[in-house]
Amino acid sequence: MELPFAESYKIKMIEPIKRSTREERAQWIKEANYNLFKLRGDQVFIDLLTDSGTGAMSDRQWSALMMGDESYAGARSYFELKEAINNILGLEYVLPTHQGRAAENVLFSVLVKNDDIVPGNSHFDTTKGHIEFRKAHAVDCTIDEAFDTTIQHPFKGNIDLNKLEKVLKENPKEKIPFVVVTVTCNSSGGQPVSMENLKAVYELSHKYEIPVLFDSARFAENAYFIKMREEGYADKSIKEIVREMYQYADMATMSAKKDGIVNIGGFIACNSEDIYRQACGFSIIFEGYVTYGGMSGRDMSALAVGLDEATEFEYLETRIRQVEYLGNRLMEFGIPIQQPIGGHAIFVDAAKILPNVPKEEYRAQTLGIELYVEAGIRGVEIGTLLADRDPVTRENRYPALELLRLAIPRRVYTDNHMDVIAVALKNVFDRQNQITSGYKITWEAPIMRHFTVELEKA
Ligand code: F0G
Repeated sequence: MELPFAESYKIKMIEPIKRSTREERAQWIKEANYNLFKLRGDQVFIDLLTDSGTGAMSDRQWSALMMGDESYAGARSYFELKEAINNILGLEYVLPTHQGRAAENVLFSVLVKNDDIVPGNSHFDTTKGHIEFRKAHAVDCTIDEAFDTTIQHPFKGNIDLNKLEKVLKENPKEKIPFVVVTVTCNSSGGQPVSMENLKAVYELSHKYEIPVLFDSARFAENAYFIKMREEGYADKSIKEIVREMYQYADMATMSAKKDGIVNIGGFIACNSEDIYRQACGFSIIFEGYVTYGGMSGRDMSALAVGLDEATEFEYLETRIRQVEYLGNRLMEFGIPIQQPIGGHAIFVDAAKILPNVPKEEYRAQTLGIELYVEAGIRGVEIGTLLADRDPVTRENRYPALELLRLAIPRRVYTDNHMDVIAVALKNVFDRQNQITSGYKITWEAPIMRHFTVELEKA
């Protein structure tokens, strides 16, 4: 008999989590103004709000933490991090930041100006936020297949080269500071970008003399999918694939809270000394001196180890197979999800699960609240609340997909937790006909409203 699959690690430290009653949860979510971000962590049984900063560090990482050098300038920990990034990504200049959006803030302060255009594959919301905050425009060039959850395509994070070329052709190059490729593409469902597409995007952009930036939050998961799905890569190591991917990037921003497997941290890496020098100026005013930029020495040391571990096949296989396990359980129950299953999360098609809730009443948010009340499971809305209002017309933007994301923290939950999630969602799905109304906004912030929005029952 073939042996079943098992995790490539064992557990050395545990953290208790608490169950609650349906009545308690109904009360707590009401007190949180029906915003899942406003719940307290201990009001949640299984927390799938994000895979960002929620992973479990390894014994090697905890050891590195103890060895951190806290020198203000020139800490050994900085050089450990720089060396890891030089070796793994192959980009030369490294500026640490406190997380991914801080890397965007520092780098975009150098590169993005009023009225610029930044094409990419479904920019993450903070990336888009940092573009629009500078009165520039993000243009989504993701392939159309990404916006139909039922289409099977191995690389739904790919950029449509025709869409990209149209943008590059129709605008002067001074108006396009860079093309951003998000690997994997979070907003389209944790979907990977193929090596072939990375290469083609790089060549096309360079033909128009535009540099390429990789938003690298989940670069290792992207490399895993290239190995598993793209011809010619099955026998290459993850580290070899990552090096090849970054031949097609001029620079990178990274939220290290994902594939760095640390609880806080990020960085900018690039090959241009000129851009690096300019970014140093913004780092010093926004983040910190250039050899720590918002991170403590110990965190940089733990990140250096995390980058190494995250680019090992055994780790990635365990990680992504768990996400797949959950996705398969949901599909067995007939629950519509983004297919194929992505790297860090399951994206549930809320519009199909709750067709009786009007779209103006936030279907994905409604599904998120139902799932929380059902079993204390916290997902996150990737739908109309997140898409926010058009900066000019102030009208709601209705995205092509209304999704509830169930992000799986790295090395934290077991497959038993996955089973609970699957059954809880099935229970909600089974009463879809009874759920006919959603929520309306009572207060919202002018930008990135989903974090703090307040709602009431419609
Ligand atoms: N880029 C991508 C693709 C991301 O997913 C995120 C964060 C960021 C940039 C910003 O990084 O949070 O460290 O400032 N994504 C988290 C999520 C928040 O839940 O998907 P950050």
